[in-house]
Amino acid sequence: MKKGNKTLMAVAFAATMVQGVCLAEGHAWDDKALSPDQRAAKLVDAMTLDEQIALLRPVDGASLASLGIQLPPSIPAWMRQPKPAGAIGSAGYVPAIPRLDFPALQESDAGLGVADIGYLRPGDAATALPSSLALAASFDTGLAREAGSVIGAEAHAKGFNVQLAGGADLIRDPRNGRNFEYASEDPLLTGDMVGEEIAGIQSKHIVSTIKHYVLNDQETGRTVLDARIDEAALRESDLLAFQVAIERGHPGAVMCSYNKVNGNYACESDFLLNRVLKGEWEFPGWVMSDWGAVHSLKQSVDAGLDQESPQGGDPDYFAGLKDAVTHGDIPREKVRDMAYRIVRALFAVGAMDDRPAPGGTIDKVADAAAAQRVAEAGAVLLKNDGQLLPLHESVKSIAIIGGHADIGVLSGGGSSQVTPYGGSFRDARGQTGIAAFLSPVYDLSSPLKALQALRPGTRIVFDDGSDPQRAAELARHVDVALVFAVKPQIESLDAPDLSLPYQQDALIDAVATVNHHTAVVLETGNPVAMPWLPKVKAVLEAWYPGQRGGEAIASLLDGKAAPAGRLPVTFPAGTAQLPRPAIPGFDPARQVPFEGAGRLSPFPVDYPEGSNVGYRWFEKNKFTPLFPFGYGLTYTHFAYSHLLVKGGQDLQVSFKLANTGRTAGVEVAQLYVAVPGRTHRLVGWAKVDLKPGESQTVTITADPRFLASYDATLHRWTRLAGVYDVYVGKAAGVSTLHGSATLAAQ
Ligand code: BGC
Repeated sequence: MKKGNKTLMAVAFAATMVQGVCLAEGHAWDDKALSPDQRAAKLVDAMTLDEQIALLRPVDGASLASLGIQLPPSIPAWMRQPKPAGAIGSAGYVPAIPRLDFPALQESDAGLGVADIGYLRPGDAATALPSSLALAASFDTGLAREAGSVIGAEAHAKGFNVQLAGGADLIRDPRNGRNFEYASEDPLLTGDMVGEEIAGIQSKHIVSTIKHYVLNDQETGRTVLDARIDEAALRESDLLAFQVAIERGHPGAVMCSYNKVNGNYACESDFLLNRVLKGEWEFPGWVMSDWGAVHSLKQSVDAGLDQESPQGGDPDYFAGLKDAVTHGDIPREKVRDMAYRIVRALFAVGAMDDRPAPGGTIDKVADAAAAQRVAEAGAVLLKNDGQLLPLHESVKSIAIIGGHADIGVLSGGGSSQVTPYGGSFRDARGQTGIAAFLSPVYDLSSPLKALQALRPGTRIVFDDGSDPQRAAELARHVDVALVFAVKPQIESLDAPDLSLPYQQDALIDAVATVNHHTAVVLETGNPVAMPWLPKVKAVLEAWYPGQRGGEAIASLLDGKAAPAGRLPVTFPAGTAQLPRPAIPGFDPARQVPFEGAGRLSPFPVDYPEGSNVGYRWFEKNKFTPLFPFGYGLTYTHFAYSHLLVKGGQDLQVSFKLANTGRTAGVEVAQLYVAVPGRTHRLVGWAKVDLKPGESQTVTITADPRFLASYDATLHRWTRLAGVYDVYVGKAAGVSTLHGSATLAAQ
């Protein structure tokens, strides 16, 4: 240690002695025998008011100045300011407090890996995992934990201690530009998967958030819209997803969303923050705002907001916090509690004792393998007529067409964008400036090259798909045509409709017209329409499959891996089947990513479907979707028999499941139950791996909360005694084994 450092240490030591916070061998809060609550209390009480307030006001941890290029005049001043000294370079940053040995808060996005949208940390990369939709499609909570631990370990090794992950908004609109960051339309699947991912992240001594609390269910007008829904419906849907995920994952922080909920901004909603989250759910962590989601000081603080994230160009309300305390508008004790919640969360996850620091070791090989496992487990086989897939040995020639399959696989855009190990490229399609900078990113993982590696004896040719007739000409002369279709999505913009862009429908149609062995591989962040479906033999939905997506897709097509994914979201037959056929507030002329909120007018978004989200809406309206929630084929067949339903206090079903096909496969058996008079809900599932000829007795116990209804008058969950309709099946609305259960009141 250098002499200067020793002197500094001595000064700091003397200062802490003066404050009376030092044990002979260190600080009082270093004592690991104490609980996180006790340790946090000691540390927070050693902080001055200014130090506590600093914790509540992170600054931007990155800057466009890091790019080191001449920025155009349109870039606002706050984005040009240099990166704060000490910041690693990402979302939010609070400087350390050396005299208390309190670490800096270093926040990084997001849920698909340690994000870097290009300018945050030039030259840095991370493992790019598949989209959350892909992860949820695995219906595999163990895999969710594993994915989380990859993110947590990499964040830790890069020096971050807060990961802005845990997207848990329900999919209420299949055009939402951020659905690739969310898990599903179902509160149980979302809660379980997101909760486990959070637990995985935090197992590496990193705080994870859960976000965006709540009802940030469309991107159009996200900063100005008012989401309107009745309380019972909200409790049974979006809030329930958060509640389950919070109970399972214990995130250190909750990020409140941009939008209003029933008239109040989410970040100043006493109902959402004080009453439900901190009151009823006894959430001990802190509430941080989304970036620019704060609209007041006192109202927000009174409602339960603890931390104002960087506001971008918008007013910094928390700048007035000290004055408000001095004038008695906000109690001193309140500020202490706000800071305490942050410090407590850091202790609770182990971030105080095992401090992240840049330059840690990352097992890139193991993490890439995990990314591939998720991509393989989450891809959903939607059609496979004549068993076109897996590609038979007799297939001697293949045309791969479109989707940049010669180069890589598509990823989702916005704050969650990971710059992958292995590299990426942008498809700017002639755009320049900021538009080019925000154009779709492809992870360099080529399905073409991966398939060539698996099938050295097969002639595999490629066409970029830009000219349907040329592509069809190529496809005409091969045994099998594989068309890769992409649909980019980016945070802040919803898709105008369910169609594939870039005239890909015409491309698929042209290819399938001449080659009757055509399969389509979809790389989308949402359900899409498939006008060509009857003409193609097979469809594989690969979502945004991450940095090993090419290898995963090739393995699935070739049969090295077996498809095991099930849809976490209903694929509608058209927008007319949706609760809102047009996206409220959507203006086709204003498709500008991250357009400033200031120029938008507020508008309401009504959710009359209530808790009948997704497949429940389809059941209520007797709509037939293109593909239902829970749906997905395998390379084998499963038979269900011998249903036994046990009621009373708890609901438990058991049944026999047999693999009657010729290959090993994974079945996701789903249990749906209807509260009398209401639509069926997913209340549990079992993921079962069976060899050919093998069978197993499967038992599923219903999650009790999903058998209850929320009574907004009595302010509690109630379960009425009665006969509950029960079915076990392969998908929502597909009742393979049907029964009923007499359940007691609860
Ligand atoms: C997004 C958040 C993200 C934050 C920081 C916001 O625009 O909505 O999800 O964590 O930016 O990058």
